[in-house]
Amino acid sequence: MSYRQLTDHYRRIAHIQHVAAVTAWDEAVNMPPGGEAARGQAMATVAVLLHELQTDARLEGWLQSADQEALGTWERANLVQIRRALRRATAVAPDLVQALSLATSRCEQAWRKLRPTNDWETFAPLLDEVIARTREVAQALGERLGVDPYDALVDEHEPGMTAAKIDPIFAELASFLPDYIQRGCERQTGVDVLPLQGPFSPAAQRDLGLQLMRACGFDFNHGRLDRSHHPFCGGTPTDVRITTRYDETDFLPALMGVLHETGHAKYEQGLPRGWLEQPVGHALGMAMHESQSLLAEMQLCRSAAFWRFAGPLVRQAFGTSDALSDRNLAALATRVAPGKIRVDADELTYPCHVILRYEIEKELIAGTLTVADIPERWDEAMRDSLGIDTRGDVRDGCMQDVHWPAGAVGYFPTYTLGALIAAQLAAAMNEAIPDIDERLAQGDFAPMDAWLRQNVWSRGRVVSAQTALEQATGSELSVEPFRAHLARRYLHDGE
Ligand code: CO
Repeated sequence: MSYRQLTDHYRRIAHIQHVAAVTAWDEAVNMPPGGEAARGQAMATVAVLLHELQTDARLEGWLQSADQEALGTWERANLVQIRRALRRATAVAPDLVQALSLATSRCEQAWRKLRPTNDWETFAPLLDEVIARTREVAQALGERLGVDPYDALVDEHEPGMTAAKIDPIFAELASFLPDYIQRGCERQTGVDVLPLQGPFSPAAQRDLGLQLMRACGFDFNHGRLDRSHHPFCGGTPTDVRITTRYDETDFLPALMGVLHETGHAKYEQGLPRGWLEQPVGHALGMAMHESQSLLAEMQLCRSAAFWRFAGPLVRQAFGTSDALSDRNLAALATRVAPGKIRVDADELTYPCHVILRYEIEKELIAGTLTVADIPERWDEAMRDSLGIDTRGDVRDGCMQDVHWPAGAVGYFPTYTLGALIAAQLAAAMNEAIPDIDERLAQGDFAPMDAWLRQNVWSRGRVVSAQTALEQATGSELSVEPFRAHLARRYLHDGE
């Protein structure tokens, strides 16, 4: 049975990916600096090993005879995913896989040290090496898949997505966001919002985060919360590792970060258990993944209703004060303020951060922009889109994100596509569950989770992201639900 041989083979791949994912978490959370160089070598070997398994010469033959077997819907969909993975993996030479892995290890490790010291000069040649290797990969993939090199990179993170589809969506956002940002800021002036008075101990912040994770339905039997330099959701569906970082003057970034990563984690924990070791059991691309985190964080947990539930828990953790009233917390959670940092950005300004990175990485892959010219291009775009001066500050400018050092080019657009999907899903969910606000005010996420489990989590990759979205909401991806959500929350009074 060839289908059986394929699934056995992919089970071995899944096991190595499992170990690699937990090791990547360990590197970000626990590893002492002296372990870096050897860990980089070890992970490059794992990358090569995985690549060897993914390009095994027997796969094509197995696929051809499995096609003749009597298979169910999920098995068929699994074959589609395996064929897709094989096409991508065999397009890139093993030497290039190893060269890219080593370049990204070196660059990411250097980034952790050089970002705090604002040292672009030392960093730029390392990033240049990553971009050069990434362009070679994009070229090889593009030729194999018959698409533009940049699209081949986007497709890895969001199957089927292309610059031709993203461009009009981002243009539509860019057409109304500057006006919305201005009006959102104006509406806030004159409204009394009290600033938080710290310090807020990391231990108390962590306890509060754990309490809210529990309320949100995070399964601690299959996951945990730790601390890292850059928040993320990693590990594997049966052992999901989420992280955050703590600021003693303001507990909201860590708390909202935890709620965001909890949204990612619940998607992983909700994937179909019987299929976790097969490609069809994976999540539907990174835009859908981000939609699950933004649905939790932005749509649900920044609403006034949620703070009626979370407010008492916040006051239990940090004491009672006017700044910690339900109303003030909700106002703080929906503050609009153009800033330099993407991960701290509010919902209204966030897409501007993404559009600027998208334009830059597209040009880097096309070869019309060099790494050396990134800071200048960054400064211009930040000034034009958000009115912010970033000159001389690469630390909180083009060196703020781990994505490019880590070789994740083509990833940024999925953040904003995820925000659109989240708004579209939330609108459909609101029709299906009319009392969402009452539920949120009680900290009861069960009906929303049930809806998401049925429409997204349990589906794995048995259908495409586009199909899943259409079946859940009745329409294809659109900017309109997101625009309407922003207008309701930031331009008008009351949600
Ligand atoms: Co996310």
